[in-house]
Amino acid sequence: MTAFRRLESQDATVRVIQVGAGSMGNAWLRNDQVNPDIEVVGIVDLNLDAARAGAVAYGDPSVPVGTDLLALIAETRPDAILDITVPVAHHPITTDALFTGLPVLGEKPAAQTVAEALSLAAAAEVTGELFMVSQSRRYNDQLVAFRQQAALLGDLGTVSTEFAKAPHFGGFRDEMDNVLLLDMAIHPFDSVRYLLERDPISVYCDSYNPSWSWYRGDAAASAVFEFEGGIRYTYNGSWCAPGLETSWNGAWRLSGAAGSALWDGDNAPLVEVVDGDGSVDALGSVGDGIAGSLAAFVHALRTGTVPDGEVHGNVMSLAMVEAAIESKDRGVKILIDDVLERAYAKALATEKRDDVRAQLESWTSVRAALQGVAVDAR
Ligand SMILES: NC(=O)c1ccc[n+]([C@@H]2O[C@H](COP(=O)([O-])OP(=O)(O)OC[C@H]3O[C@@H](n4cnc5c(N)ncnc54)[C@H](O)[C@@H]3O)[C@@H](O)[C@H]2O)c1
Repeated sequence: MTAFRRLESQDATVRVIQVGAGSMGNAWLRNDQVNPDIEVVGIVDLNLDAARAGAVAYGDPSVPVGTDLLALIAETRPDAILDITVPVAHHPITTDALFTGLPVLGEKPAAQTVAEALSLAAAAEVTGELFMVSQSRRYNDQLVAFRQQAALLGDLGTVSTEFAKAPHFGGFRDEMDNVLLLDMAIHPFDSVRYLLERDPISVYCDSYNPSWSWYRGDAAASAVFEFEGGIRYTYNGSWCAPGLETSWNGAWRLSGAAGSALWDGDNAPLVEVVDGDGSVDALGSVGDGIAGSLAAFVHALRTGTVPDGEVHGNVMSLAMVEAAIESKDRGVKILIDDVLERAYAKALATEKRDDVRAQLESWTSVRAALQGVAVDAR
């Protein structure tokens, strides 16, 4: 899929319904409020009180609220949907929205599983609507500079991320399986694909729960990915590592034939090139976090430019998570292509819509279908 439906007007405010008004939903509503291109015309949440509180957070308690997305779409006729619900709800909400003729910007992950994400990629093709996943950590000028530095290092060999935090969230994360890999690791996994502009081949992963962990599921993991070109990416993370914590982006090291670069995740990255000065040109800002992804979504709808996070380009980041979990469960190295093929078979077997299944069947290979859209068109 290389094209999707654009908005007719280039400068009219984009009228959105936001689904999901929990903790991240409230952050989004405040983000919506300060974006002059966005008008929230409805808020949907299964918990009506949360939707009402969301309207207050947005700064307009008169915004229509409800528990039924299709009913509120019929009532308010929005231009687009923002899906900030829990992962299990991403597939049904996005499918409903796309088949109502509306583009979707959804929180990560694209869906609960790679199989569901493939179904959504096919649904976007059938409907011709944009489905963009908000992978907010890509919107970081320091990461952009780090990628520019990577281009100075010659052949790349090794990338690593050390992640150490100790947050007490409470709520669903304390009880979920594979909490670090499922809820957090997708951020650096997606960032390394952006950094290298390459896709993963395989992974070996181990995960564990330190004795003092306050999470039920494994809160720590170590993974080694092989990327195209033989580059190795090592991730070493823990969500119950108090003291000397890293930034939320983690601490990064990148090594190549001509030098190395370091990024602590909070400050400008450093580079040392053996024969050169390592300077890079300052580029225009990509914005910061969810503000950047919302602006990119609006820009994409107005111009037809494929944004970072378009579902086809995003699925591989979720595949990295699923492959890492399969590896630690089975104790063996896992090929990403095997994960994609199994997900594809599951998507075909479980798809409820005939039109989406027919679209999936038309794919000659999953990798080829996913590469139909540029990973980074910024
Ligand atoms: N980008 C980031 O840094 C970041 C940070 C935190 C959370 N997230 C993501 O944001 C999403 C939401 O996380 P959260 O922490 O706000 O969760 P949350 O549990 O605080 O809120 C989710 C809300 O969605 C509502 N909801 C659930 N199913 C629904 C449905 N079918 N229809 C309508 N409403 C529904 C719930 O009632 C709840 O109010 C998740 O996908 C999560 O991974 C991203």
